Amino acid sequence: MTTHLQAIILAAGKSTRFNTNKTKLLEPICGQPMVLYPINMLASLDIPITMVIGYQKEELKNRLSTATPLALHYVEQEYPGGTGHAILSSRTHWEQPHLLIMNGDMPLVTKDIIQDLIQKHTDTHAAISFVTAHDTGNVTSGYGRVIETDRGQKKQIEIVEARDFTGDPTTDYCINAGIYLVSTQFLEQYLPTLTPNTITNELYFTDLIKMASDAGLTVSTLSAPFDSIRGVNTLQELWAVEQIKRAELIKHWMHHGVRFSMPHTVHMDLDVTIGSGSVIDANVHLTGTTSIGTNCIVHPFSTLHNVSLGNNVTIYAHCVLSDSQIHANALVGPFAHVRTQSTLHERSVIGNFVEVKQSSVGEHSKAKHLTYLGDAQIGRSVNIGAGTIICNYDGTQKHATTIEDNVFIGSNNTLVAPLTIQHHAFTAAGSTITKTVPPYTLAFGRSRQVNKEGYVDPDSSNEEPSSHTAAPHDDPDQHAKSFRGATKTDVETSPRYLD
Ligand code: UD1
Ligand code: CA
Repeated sequence: MTTHLQAIILAAGKSTRFNTNKTKLLEPICGQPMVLYPINMLASLDIPITMVIGYQKEELKNRLSTATPLALHYVEQEYPGGTGHAILSSRTHWEQPHLLIMNGDMPLVTKDIIQDLIQKHTDTHAAISFVTAHDTGNVTSGYGRVIETDRGQKKQIEIVEARDFTGDPTTDYCINAGIYLVSTQFLEQYLPTLTPNTITNELYFTDLIKMASDAGLTVSTLSAPFDSIRGVNTLQELWAVEQIKRAELIKHWMHHGVRFSMPHTVHMDLDVTIGSGSVIDANVHLTGTTSIGTNCIVHPFSTLHNVSLGNNVTIYAHCVLSDSQIHANALVGPFAHVRTQSTLHERSVIGNFVEVKQSSVGEHSKAKHLTYLGDAQIGRSVNIGAGTIICNYDGTQKHATTIEDNVFIGSNNTLVAPLTIQHHAFTAAGSTITKTVPPYTLAFGRSRQVNKEGYVDPDSSNEEPSSHTAAPHDDPDQHAKSFRGATKTDVETSPRYLD
């Protein structure tokens, strides 16, 4: 049947109830634009897709062309004249005997629902078939109601939009999901006869149900779980739908052996993968194409975007990692920032308040405290002392630094790029290194320490006053003498200080 079928996805609406001045259809749900969910689902059934676009059509086309390799056909609805008008706009594209029509704002619909609808439509030789769901409470107030009435032999069926409904709102009822399978012949005949709704002046596709029913044609319905057919008209509904999607993803990974210590606080995107035995702690964000190996642990409040972790990697709390690769057994954080195509090789250690940008840190190398590594290639077993800064930027250009295997960089170094520090070299603590350091060499790049012997007068040293001496604050003069080094005039005029 799918060979005689084409899909039309409605994506031209103005998203008025979103209040964001943007089309809701590109709003991401677990990292993927909302409208891509029905597109991918229908593509997995090999159903060709025509998109009806209008509002922000260029944004939609551009985003979809980068987000999917699928060949989508586009047709334009010139103004937002309602769902009936949207389908009418696609008329020149009707090529198959049956059309599967779907709202673009229902991201949780599964393939099974579509397959069951196709089956029902075929079995019952219906002119039009559509999906319904049971109302699960007032949440569904925005949906069209399915009203069935017994008229003698035949049942009459119609969809009454929420704002047109005048009956008892508390009665049990089904809602219209917004997925229809229609015979093209029926559509050719009846769609042009739709009349605008008296309140909104829009053409409602849903009015066709009553037309078919009144004409004595077969109208079939398929009941689906409400959660699967939720529509997204408001940011609140977006939140509800994303929670469902996220819960599905988390359950999937739990099933594959991943422990989430507080799953309700975790955000994860659709394409994220996690190996078994890994633990994802509270408030972790895993987004984009992040992939996590087996037996990793990501501690609380860390964010990983497009990051790949090998096996047994530990990310401590409060790390921000993006577009980088972290190999097996590496340790990162807490409070580390790794970004822009950086690679941390096996068993490397990046500690607290360390930023790594577009750099490679070799196997077993360590930068454990307060450091910036930018545009650097760092070999194996290198130790970067606390407080080291690579000066990679001269105000105009970025420059590269190479630190070869087994180098030891002392604490508080300033490494001015372009720079090479060759293997087994040492740099002294507090150095500013601007020239190549040859292998096995100790480089000093700092002024020597000078000791000023006898600088402090032992008689006025600032020792604690003994119990029988008056406290310094009782004698201002005594106080000044005991803190000689802090007396500005004394220090600046002291010849010993200046020599
Ligand atoms: C629609 C149905 C309602 C159903 C609900 C299910 C109608 C009249 N009502 O209401 O019975 O219960 O979906 O979620 O169909 N669109 C266009 N052009 C337009 C207007 C809308 O392409 O001129 C697109 C929108 O972008 C959206 C879809 O059609 O993807 C549905 O439109 P929306 O305004 O969300 O309809 P609902 O009020 O939800
Ligand atoms: Ca809707």
